[in-house]
Amino acid sequence: MTERPLATVVLAAGKGTRMKSAQPKVLHKVAGRSLLGHVLATVESLRPTRIVVVIGPGMEDVAAAAAPHATAVQEGQLGTGDAVRAALPALTDLCAPEAGADLLIVFGDTPFLTAETLRAMRDRRASPEAPSLVALGFEPDEPGAYGRLLLDENGLILRNVEYKDALASDDPELRRALDVKLCNGGALLGEAAVLSRLIGELDNDNAQGEYYLTDVFAMARADGFSARVEMGEEWEVMGINSRSELARAEALYQTRRREAAMAEGVTLIDPASVFFSHDTAIGRDCLIEPQVFFGPGVMLEEGVTVRAYSHLEGCRLQNGATVGPFARLRPGAILGPQARIGNFVEVKNARLGQGAKANHLTYLGDAEIGAGANVGAGTITCNYDGFAKHKTVIGTKAFIGSNTALVAPVSVADGAVIGAGSVVTEDVPADGLAIARGRQLVIEQGAARLRERQQDPQDGSQDGPQPEARRKVAGQRTAGQHSKE
Ligand code: UD1
Ligand code: CA
Repeated sequence: MTERPLATVVLAAGKGTRMKSAQPKVLHKVAGRSLLGHVLATVESLRPTRIVVVIGPGMEDVAAAAAPHATAVQEGQLGTGDAVRAALPALTDLCAPEAGADLLIVFGDTPFLTAETLRAMRDRRASPEAPSLVALGFEPDEPGAYGRLLLDENGLILRNVEYKDALASDDPELRRALDVKLCNGGALLGEAAVLSRLIGELDNDNAQGEYYLTDVFAMARADGFSARVEMGEEWEVMGINSRSELARAEALYQTRRREAAMAEGVTLIDPASVFFSHDTAIGRDCLIEPQVFFGPGVMLEEGVTVRAYSHLEGCRLQNGATVGPFARLRPGAILGPQARIGNFVEVKNARLGQGAKANHLTYLGDAEIGAGANVGAGTITCNYDGFAKHKTVIGTKAFIGSNTALVAPVSVADGAVIGAGSVVTEDVPADGLAIARGRQLVIEQGAARLRERQQDPQDGSQDGPQPEARRKVAGQRTAGQHSKE
């Protein structure tokens, strides 16, 4: 059976006042990806015919984050029903009865909704006795302020009662909704022609004076259309409204991600201190020591070791590579098999060949480092001249002595050796030896003569600073203390 075409609306017009942020709520990130990015990735996996993201006036940054999907602007914050209504003009074709399409509505601030749950909702719509509408339900420990779904004896949805309306009402039936455990998770799927028509007919006669999307359940029932519940997990429907909830969502994500990594054969010595991004890819038998942060775009092949206190983003580590402790890998760092990056080494837009090493205190930026090359402690690729970036090329098995400055553009060919402390400004040929530093001057007995001069009684300095100088230092300290008071 071919699936029905799918129109999808993502609601993201809420300002998120409680975030206390200059940035719209849905652009805040969990695991290095915006809340909206998480939701879009999930709905994209369903391959909908079209996705329309509803934004507020002036939210160009959200529109940019939503691209290439279309956006629709909701002018006032008049409720979830009004927000969906703003998207309908962009979906007229798919909402026509002859399109035979479904309409899915999800919230932009609910990042953990899974594709599995949405697929289960779609499957319900595909069953022979398909309900016209499918709500996402869940049973939280604390139903709190969620909308409550009331069912009839056959499990069909009678209506949804918003928490505030139940609280504000004298009607015993509405107040009884407060005891109902089944809550509305927010996502809603339905026959596009029916659902869009009902949304067009919503009113705002309720406790909050809003157009409630959730009123469609009662309206559908009154019109003879059926609605059922598909159950999801509580963590899936977790909405984010404050920085505290954002941190809780991050913690939840990380806990699950760490477990997944370990289940896939990665060793985490102290899982709680390792942070992943949404797209971190780690192969088997990788070993991650404590206090490691993976920013976006990191790919580790198999048997890679990341030692403690390392920060990685946008990089790729091939089989058996080792980094850290205290390493920083920035975007474009590619380590070949068995390559080693040691402590206090920063690598950016640089590729190290198989077995190449930079073990201590080094900056490698915009560089190509051949297999088996050895980069000594304190080596710096001077890649930036204040105007543009330039490339450094180090050949296979080249040896760069400690404290070398490689002034790019420059290349050190295969097998060449650079003497320690060199400032290399010109290319070095294969198997060449370059030493570019001031020549050492040795004066026989020079030190002995220096000492003799220091001990000359006329000089008088062998007892340390002169009384005058000592007074000066003391005076400065005193002044400092006074100024503090
Ligand atoms: C909504 C549901 C409630 C459900 C809960 C689940 C309604 C009336 N209530 O309540 O039954 O239990 O979600 O989390 O639907 N938005 C707009 N424009 C608006 C209003 C909201 O775009 O005018 C967006 C928000 O940005 C947010 C989403 O819609 O992404 C949900 O809005 P929110 O105000 O959080 O709904 P709740 O009151 O939580
Ligand atoms: Ca909410």
